[in-house]
Amino acid sequence: MRAVAFEGLKLFLDTANLEWIRKLNRMGLVDGVTTNPTLVAKEQGDFEEMVGSICREVRGDVSAEVVSTDYDGMVREAKHLSSIAPNVVVKIPIIPEGLRATKTVSGLGMRVNMTLVFSANQGLLAAKAGASFISPFIGRLDDVGQRGMEVVEDLVKIRDNYRLKSEVLVGSIRHPQHVLEAAKIGADIATMPPEIMEKMMQHPLTDAGLKRFLEDWERAKKAKPSITA
Ligand code: E4P
Repeated sequence: MRAVAFEGLKLFLDTANLEWIRKLNRMGLVDGVTTNPTLVAKEQGDFEEMVGSICREVRGDVSAEVVSTDYDGMVREAKHLSSIAPNVVVKIPIIPEGLRATKTVSGLGMRVNMTLVFSANQGLLAAKAGASFISPFIGRLDDVGQRGMEVVEDLVKIRDNYRLKSEVLVGSIRHPQHVLEAAKIGADIATMPPEIMEKMMQHPLTDAGLKRFLEDWERAKKAKPSITA
């Protein structure tokens, strides 16, 4: 019998930490990785080597961000980052120069993840410029008292209304409930810190239930030696 293929919400890790990526990837949970300059700065080592290693570990898309804020610099960096591995996605901020750079590099066949999206209108422009991924940052919106998921709801509706090819990638996830909401809304991808993916696995009743099963099994083995395991 074949394993059941999962076609639902894609789960990305929002980290540049290779140990975490390896650990969770071994469980078959990691569809891709997003990094940003803050996450890269937390790790030791050379940026390009880091991106190369992550790309070898994970088959899916790996976002690496440009740090230039002018058109020429962004295009130059995009070309360079894309040359590291075929699964690199170039992350570009949604500023006017970023939209222009996205138009150019997506036209050259590179995939762009348009980042720092805080409104559905910004997302709409990202899609128009040719971004493959639109990244609304929901936790940061929640932090300032705006319901971040509303932007995701709007973007999913726009995607469906016009059958857009751009994928809605929910970023700045703060807790497992955010992942659940993203799945219920119909977002394409949720990217999360590794700790949140771990929390998604956990439930105290699972631990208590397993403990009891094992204790009962031990008792049964003593009472009925015919049981073996
Ligand atoms: C997404 O691609 C970003 O890297 C990320 O989700 C930002 O999240 P933060 O608000 O936790 O920094």
